[in-house]
Amino acid sequence: MSGGGASRVLHGASLAAFVQALPKAELHLHIEGSLEPELLFRLASRNGVRLAYADVESLRAAYDFHDLQSFLTLYYQGAAVLREAVDFHELALDYMARAAADTVRHTEIFFDPQTHTGRGLKLETVMEGLLGGLNEGARRYGVSWALIPCFLRDLSEQEAFDTLELLLPWRQHFKALGLDSAERAHPPSKFQRVFARAADHGLPAVAHAGEEGPPSYITEALDLLKVVRIDHGVRAVEDAAVMQRLAREGVPLTVCPLSNLKLKVFSDLRQHSLRQMLRAGLCCTINSDDPAYFGGYVAENYRAIAEAQDLTREDLLQLARNSFTASFLPSERIAAHLAELDAFAAAN
Ligand code: ADE
Ligand code: ZN
Repeated sequence: MSGGGASRVLHGASLAAFVQALPKAELHLHIEGSLEPELLFRLASRNGVRLAYADVESLRAAYDFHDLQSFLTLYYQGAAVLREAVDFHELALDYMARAAADTVRHTEIFFDPQTHTGRGLKLETVMEGLLGGLNEGARRYGVSWALIPCFLRDLSEQEAFDTLELLLPWRQHFKALGLDSAERAHPPSKFQRVFARAADHGLPAVAHAGEEGPPSYITEALDLLKVVRIDHGVRAVEDAAVMQRLAREGVPLTVCPLSNLKLKVFSDLRQHSLRQMLRAGLCCTINSDDPAYFGGYVAENYRAIAEAQDLTREDLLQLARNSFTASFLPSERIAAHLAELDAFAAAN
């Protein structure tokens, strides 16, 4: 059966099946945000970490956020159960299995070194576990991966410099450096000198900007950090000049609809800015951010936003195409993924 019209809007079960089978890349996933409550409890028990919640159900019930900070507080508490390399290995392998089930062909994964070194873990423990789990996942499921360490923007510039020094011996394992955590009052400009030093080592920059922060943070990330991608960027619609620039320069945005809904960036997915950004020609992609906390992996993010905004089959194909072209993959790998996507489009 062939496509049946470029502008067809899919709904219900046919939409769910289409987005699940759609070949895609995921470009915005915090590995600590893929820590499901079941694994969290298992690791807490194995490592003797006391939790403030009696069971999985009461922990899940606490996942009721009113903004980014209310989420981050629980998210950093949750990460404290990760203590040994084998914990990071299991975490990464579990995510790779879920990604493969959503027909993710390639994934670019954030992790927060300071969340772990700040409580006494060695970077080596984190790296050994993540690399082991990702490599095992790649072998088992045929999903390729890239790693992007992020600086926590609510910590100081000096702490970011110290973290960069720790990361440099592992440089070969990273495709870029990122910036995340509490955005308000922590503008990209705070880290201009750190990202300049990273660029001396050939590391491209990406940054969370325009999630809760204003559109001017997107401009700062582009001008001062020289980012090649903006993470979230959904508040760009508040500034026409920023929208025009993102379109003109073809800057990719890693949009995470369910995250924005759970963190109350938008009160309803029908109010989300994705459709407006797509129609303005921006290079948007769809991602899951912290799926264990926000209630859906990447296919569910495609499904929920498509259902809420009446996205067409062609929109969904474009979003998947963007996910490959905006990745750090070499051009021949991108071309191979786009060929698979074209074959999928012809057959579905
Ligand atoms: N760290 C994990 N998820 C994040 C998000 N959505 N924004 C900023 N920092 C994060
Ligand atoms: Zn994020």
